[in-house]
Amino acid sequence: MKDNKSAYNSSVYDENIVSTLPYYREYHNQIIDLVKAAGMQNIDWLDTGCGTGTLASRVFDCRDDVRFTLCDPSEQMLDIAKNKLQGRDIRVFNIASQNMTFDSEFDVVTAVQSHHYLKPDERKTAVDNCFRALKSNGVFVTFENIRMTTEASDKIALKRWESFLSDHLKDPEVVKMHIDRRGVEVFPITIEEHIKLLREAGFKSVDVLWTSYLQAGFWAMKY
Ligand SMILES: C[S@@+](CC[C@H](N)C(=O)[O-])C[C@H]1O[C@@H](n2cnc3c(N)ncnc32)[C@H](O)[C@@H]1O
Repeated sequence: MKDNKSAYNSSVYDENIVSTLPYYREYHNQIIDLVKAAGMQNIDWLDTGCGTGTLASRVFDCRDDVRFTLCDPSEQMLDIAKNKLQGRDIRVFNIASQNMTFDSEFDVVTAVQSHHYLKPDERKTAVDNCFRALKSNGVFVTFENIRMTTEASDKIALKRWESFLSDHLKDPEVVKMHIDRRGVEVFPITIEEHIKLLREAGFKSVDVLWTSYLQAGFWAMKY
């Protein structure tokens, strides 16, 4: 029985995720760069679905004017995050995005690869909660597994990811496990559906930050 909803147990997550998600480190680079360009200082930052706390750790490596609130439904992931971030300005909540009740507290909210486990209603609640958690001028950044717009294009994108997995993970059984999770344990939606969801949550600006393979990043401003 796994200790969280990702493909890996918390103790082996960090070493495996880079071989599973192409450009995984780039998601965090993009977020850090965007927040820097937004010119914010003394940032109250919520990272929901924080996992092992890698994003917060990367942020603390380049700036010290951030207070992190880290949320995740997996206690085991949070234990690793707390260990990784010892001595840093963090507070931690064992909670899923769809159950958060923060209101107008944060300059930045991030959700990296953490909402694609949710069915449509819960996913909507999760995104609405991220919107409500932001202060009026706040920025939401999310990265997600996505689905292509047609079956034909999705099939090609999936084949491409399968080749990446085969090259990096080697074991055909593990590759199959990842491919088989799609539509069963993870429920990717298209870029257009993401943009619609973010607009419906109330965000005034909604833009694509980055995309490749079967992942995309979005940034949305509340105003
Ligand atoms: C693929 S990991 C991503 C972790 C981290 N954000 C990163 O960049 O490495 C997915 C994380 O989402 C968490 N998660 C699962 N369901 C969630 C939900 N409903 N709300 C928030 N986080 C969730 C899991 O416990 C896990 O830690």
